[in-house]
Amino acid sequence: MEKLLIRGGVPLKGTVSISGSKNASLPIMAAAILAGGRSVLRGLPALRDVLTMGALLEQMGARFNFSPDDSLAEIDASELKNPVAAYELVKTMRASVLVLGPLTARYGRAKVSLPGGCAIGARPINLHLMGLEKMGAKIELEGGYVIAKARRLKGASLYFDLPTVTGTENLMMAAALAKGVTVLENAAREPEIVDLAETLQAMGAKIEGAGGSLIEIEGVDELKPFDHEAIPDRIETATFAVAAAVTGGDILIKNSRPEHLDAVSIKLRETGAEVKKTPAGLRVKGNGRPRSVNITTMPYPGFPTDVQAQFMALMCIAGGTSTINETVFENRFMHVPELKRMGADIDLQGGLATVKGVPALKGAEVMATDLRASASLVLAALAAESESVVHRIYHLDRGYEQMEKKLLALGARAERIK
Ligand code: UD1
Repeated sequence: MEKLLIRGGVPLKGTVSISGSKNASLPIMAAAILAGGRSVLRGLPALRDVLTMGALLEQMGARFNFSPDDSLAEIDASELKNPVAAYELVKTMRASVLVLGPLTARYGRAKVSLPGGCAIGARPINLHLMGLEKMGAKIELEGGYVIAKARRLKGASLYFDLPTVTGTENLMMAAALAKGVTVLENAAREPEIVDLAETLQAMGAKIEGAGGSLIEIEGVDELKPFDHEAIPDRIETATFAVAAAVTGGDILIKNSRPEHLDAVSIKLRETGAEVKKTPAGLRVKGNGRPRSVNITTMPYPGFPTDVQAQFMALMCIAGGTSTINETVFENRFMHVPELKRMGADIDLQGGLATVKGVPALKGAEVMATDLRASASLVLAALAAESESVVHRIYHLDRGYEQMEKKLLALGARAERIK
């Protein structure tokens, strides 16, 4: 298993270019199922999750041609023979469930493995299923699979108990081909949902309100293929922003959309870092020892749960005590014991972590447990005084394109070892 060796203590300086968004690309790839013909997705990052979604589409009978050098994929789902998402792939990527809505809408049937729990919590899909059922699908659970059947989905008024991101996306895609009007209330408002809605609109879908908590979709009989460029990855942007702050560096982040990062930028400024929108990109500069600030994760536009672990790495070396309240996922603190191995002082009580800043972290061997936890450990290692080894780096490869290459270009001392 590959690991990352990092010799910390170097302020990261220079320019980094952000890749296309993973969480925008995955639903857009699934949206290709809704149309006959060749769709084109640009800005697609070469990530393990993207390849998994591609393999899933291929298993169903779609064509998926990906040129990583051009960040471009062609997807043709004209002739799907097998609307099945098998356990082997779904277990490696929960977002596989995004094919459920499009398959049911276009083919009238879908068989998708239940994702099951994961390192950060139970993560049920009951809201996805509730929505499809209200739209007229017959849902059965059999042998660990969801089987959905519908002659043609019909529009419905749906309310989400929690604003679920992939649930909103799944049902927005299903509603695009349903008969009649669907209303999604308490919908998630993430920028990735807006990106998907814009793709669907380019395909001929009638959608209003994406980006707000009430989305209205008037179903159409047919959709055409898309040619779309995914938005830049706001979580990767935030990760490099924290990297600048935690190492006392100075990074110009190109190809980013700072307006998607307001909560993170405001909190970073409170720690004392400089965060400036410039015509060339987002410039983030560390400014001595960070001040401690409190964060509470929330659905967008609140502070993203996907940046909680990285921000905690920064708070580990802050002057003072901060509280980090995780309200989105119940078990998203797997990085805490690993950060403690590096000398962090963290007290964890349920969903609340109290982080007492120490003057410096010390290098150690640590283990990545999930995607964002792995980013947190890399950031902590970059800031730490001596050498660290981050094990199970495959978690990082699920969501960060060429992370160590980008870090090396910023002056980090990092090396991937077998
Ligand atoms: C997406 C993101 C993930 C991010 C998360 C929250 C993708 C591919 N992944 O995940 O990176 O961390 O949003 O911003 O975009 N819930 C239910 N029932 C459901 C669905 C969700 O109870 O049917 C709960 C979840 O357990 C969680 C909360 O709702 O507590 C939000 O989860 P959700 O927004 O659905 O996360 P994902 O879409 O899986």
